[in-house]
Amino acid sequence: MRRAHSARRQQHKGLHTNTVLLNRSVSMNISYSCPMSFLRWAGSKRQLVPILSSFWYAASRDDGRSRYVEGFCGSATLFFSIRPKRGLLVDCNAALVECITRVKKAPRSVAKALGQMAPSEATFYDVRAADTNQLDPDVRAARFIYLNRLCFNGLYRTNSAGRFNVPYGGLKAGRLPDVRQLENASEALQSTSVICGDFQSAVKHHVERGDFVYLDPPYAVRNRSLDFQYGPDVFGTKDIERLALLASEIDAIGATFVISYVDCPEISSLVERWGCERVQVRRTVAAAASRRVSASEVLISNL
Ligand SMILES: C[S@@+](CC[C@H](N)C(=O)[O-])C[C@H]1O[C@@H](n2cnc3c(N)ncnc32)[C@H](O)[C@@H]1O
Repeated sequence: MRRAHSARRQQHKGLHTNTVLLNRSVSMNISYSCPMSFLRWAGSKRQLVPILSSFWYAASRDDGRSRYVEGFCGSATLFFSIRPKRGLLVDCNAALVECITRVKKAPRSVAKALGQMAPSEATFYDVRAADTNQLDPDVRAARFIYLNRLCFNGLYRTNSAGRFNVPYGGLKAGRLPDVRQLENASEALQSTSVICGDFQSAVKHHVERGDFVYLDPPYAVRNRSLDFQYGPDVFGTKDIERLALLASEIDAIGATFVISYVDCPEISSLVERWGCERVQVRRTVAAAASRRVSASEVLISNL
């Protein structure tokens, strides 16, 4: 698969838009328009969409029928940018998976419910306080989008009772998605399954020869200042071993994988086994939007 590497590099020159600093100290200035997910997600790889999509284009079949699989989908930024003809999205966050599924099935109904939620601080706390068990699934999906777009930094965090507890962050993410945007997302999702589950079992169970698998786990580094919070203990340093096992299984099946991860000692065994490209990203760290740091990220692939 490594022969495809130089072809991918060629494509990737044409695609770029952000400044990406590769480990060969090459700096590229590029401009692209990235179709947005209807969600925003702490840790989403929006900045890396050009380089990540170049892996997809190099790995996909000429007939455009390759399947896109994502094991930690979050807001599925890369998926919505590529809009593959067939896909599988996996995440362990049940509320997120329900939201994406309802947008796929009933975008108008979700948009209607969302339109009834005023984008203000007072409404935010009312919506946040609602008992989700009492809500219709489409209203629950609208509530998820509303809180996601208006909360602090697009974080997803729950208390010990499982209740979303991120504070109001304002309208920094722009207007709430309208019916046209949700219909557009629904169209992109039509031939894609969305599964709630653990990345390892779900991907291992479903992956097939020729698939493209993108894995973007939360950072399980010991330096917690780089951490985003997705829930208690969802991905720890021990899970990196499971990630490494899954990468070998995907390769053995004849599929392509790309893993994005913070450049840290914990990931070194995967880097040594498969090689990597290093890219610089701007990252907002956990508690304060003012604390933006430039950090090195590794892209590990069998391509
Ligand atoms: C860095 S985010 C992914 C961001 C995504 N690439 C995007 O475009 O928004 C990591 C995601 O992994 C999910 N996650 C954490 N542990 C998981 C596990 N064991 N299995 C599946 N998903 C998991 C979290 O719920 C979170 O949505």
